[in-house]
Amino acid sequence: MPEKHLENEHLMSEPSMPVPQGFFDRHPGKPHLSSFKQYEEMYKESIEHPEVFFAKMARENLSWSKPFTVPKVPVAAPFSANDGEPSAWFVDGELNASYNAVDRWAQKNPDKPAIIYEADEPGEGRIVTYGELLKQVCKLAQVLVNLGVKKGDTVAVYLPMIPEAIVSLMAIIRIGAVHSVVFAGFSSGSLRDRINDAHSKLVITTDESKRGSKIIETKKIVDDALKTADQVSNVIVFQRTGTKHVPWTEGRDLWWHEELAKYPSYFPPTPVNSEDPLFLLYTSGSTGKPKGIQHTTAGYLLGALLTTKYVFDVHEEDTIFTAGDVGWITGHSYVVYGPLLNGATTVVFEGTPAYPTFSRYWEIVDAHKVNQFYVAPTALRLLKRAGEKYVTPYKLDSLRALGSVGEPIAKDVWEWYNDNVGRGKAHICDTYWQTESGSHLICPLAGVTPTKPGSASFPFFGIDPAIVDPVTGKELKGNEVEGVLAVRNSWPSMARTIWGDYSRFMDTYQNPYKGFYFSGDGAARDKDGFYWILGRVDDVVNVSGHRLSTAEIEAALIEHRLVAESAVVGFPDELTGSAVAAFVSLKTKDVSNVDAIKKELILTVRKEIGPFAAPKLILLVNDLPKTRSGKIMRRILRKVLAHEEDQLGDISTLSNPDVVAHIIDVVKASR
Ligand code: WT7
Repeated sequence: MPEKHLENEHLMSEPSMPVPQGFFDRHPGKPHLSSFKQYEEMYKESIEHPEVFFAKMARENLSWSKPFTVPKVPVAAPFSANDGEPSAWFVDGELNASYNAVDRWAQKNPDKPAIIYEADEPGEGRIVTYGELLKQVCKLAQVLVNLGVKKGDTVAVYLPMIPEAIVSLMAIIRIGAVHSVVFAGFSSGSLRDRINDAHSKLVITTDESKRGSKIIETKKIVDDALKTADQVSNVIVFQRTGTKHVPWTEGRDLWWHEELAKYPSYFPPTPVNSEDPLFLLYTSGSTGKPKGIQHTTAGYLLGALLTTKYVFDVHEEDTIFTAGDVGWITGHSYVVYGPLLNGATTVVFEGTPAYPTFSRYWEIVDAHKVNQFYVAPTALRLLKRAGEKYVTPYKLDSLRALGSVGEPIAKDVWEWYNDNVGRGKAHICDTYWQTESGSHLICPLAGVTPTKPGSASFPFFGIDPAIVDPVTGKELKGNEVEGVLAVRNSWPSMARTIWGDYSRFMDTYQNPYKGFYFSGDGAARDKDGFYWILGRVDDVVNVSGHRLSTAEIEAALIEHRLVAESAVVGFPDELTGSAVAAFVSLKTKDVSNVDAIKKELILTVRKEIGPFAAPKLILLVNDLPKTRSGKIMRRILRKVLAHEEDQLGDISTLSNPDVVAHIIDVVKASR
């Protein structure tokens, strides 16, 4: 069970709000769906006859070079203990992802903007049309082929938010290769681990990158990573800043502009099977080793396409601005694939919400008449704190859907978003999903679903959620229940495996609750059937919408020569949702400069994982609370941090009960 229950539980009993009339007033045409009733009918069909529903959707929305005849491999119960494998979709069909995302629209109207690039520095961006995008993609595809990249090979992408990130993804999948994007905020060590785990032979990066006016030496980080990644034969480097000081390895490193210039502007796409892998994306789990979540071509494309279309009500004429990074699943599905598969225009924003001022998002929205805006609550909390004066001067009247993603959105933040950004005329869509799900699981449909602030509302087509009792593993039926969130069936865009580790995939997602996909989140269903996400029930901490594994941070800390043992837990933080606290016991007790050591420990995590994983609080303790079998009781640490030392329960079973008083003292002293 999540230990932190929903703060505002009383909200569940409040009535829902209808779709604002302003949504319809602002709509230049008609929403895709006309009513909630229509959603209910479609939803019912998607659950009762998924193969019929999704076959129709896949035929209508995707282009196939070889049409499929079998929509879904018929397995009795996709997540039952005896069947052992998630469903396969559209198994005998063939298609190409870049053809669907780029060629279709380039053929229709090559001059239509595909990408609006907003550079870190206002005014330095540019527009990339579908026609131009196709040319770039084709040229890079030929570079890759020429460098020996073949169908099924993985290519690592370590890029900032620039159009070339989209060009790279599209070029890789055009030749049937598999992209593995590594968030450009990861350290060289994390990059190296991901390159090695995926066996990537090629890396695409930039000379440097720029964010919030700060320069990051991207190529240098890649070079450090490659010191122990011998299988990488080439690095393609896009010149982002043009600095003269780029570390260079002759023979291995190649300039993007020099290579692309060698090739003609068209190269045919390679058709692949529906179930061929499209990409890997590493995410954190309960153990220290990141998981390479593997997505499949047709199923993933359909999920990204349909959710973009129906959840945000995106039409071909629309401009969608997802303020998320391509290094995470939000960027994959809602900056790159979803918008392009719908033939819409996507905003690629390189900067931060605070640079040059807290008005940056709103400047972009007005400048490009953005119709759908999508962001994590952590950014909204920052902007809310900065003050209304940064948002009121902007018109923002093009906005119809306002998405929220990555963490629960508190009522006050929801209302701030609704009042100040939506002006009561846009539909707020709190979307719950995961790297593993590929696309939205539970979320309102813009123009259709009534909302309650803080609730992700109802399941998307094809998702049959269940609330499961964490102890008995039995489903809790009916309304007003709380437990862990599971999904009863499989859906097209669900991950098929963890790269190279199918048994870990099954252990993580299927085996905890037989017969269900286990999400890792706690959830409640209220009296009206609305779903409320209550936070992770495993050792994952959500900091500013970044998913961090406590075990991974612990593994980083142990790299420091003085660390004997550590336990990492999350604690509530006003701005970042959760923050990381690290309890550390040192090998030596006589440390003279405590502050210096704490700084070193923080640096160790920044270096081993990346700046975003840095603990906010380091607590040096003599020992950690443990069971008699030696298991660290993180629950006790969480309670003490949350000022709940009166709710520790029975601590007499600890092997070292005395340590609890000491830990309470250390935490008190840190405040
Ligand atoms: C975890 C997945 C989903 C894309 C970005 C994060 C949490 C996600 C919500 C939401 C409450 C949410 C869950 C989930 N989460 N969206 N709307 N309300 N919690 O993807 O890194 O795979 O993290 O983020 O805990 O399991 P991710």
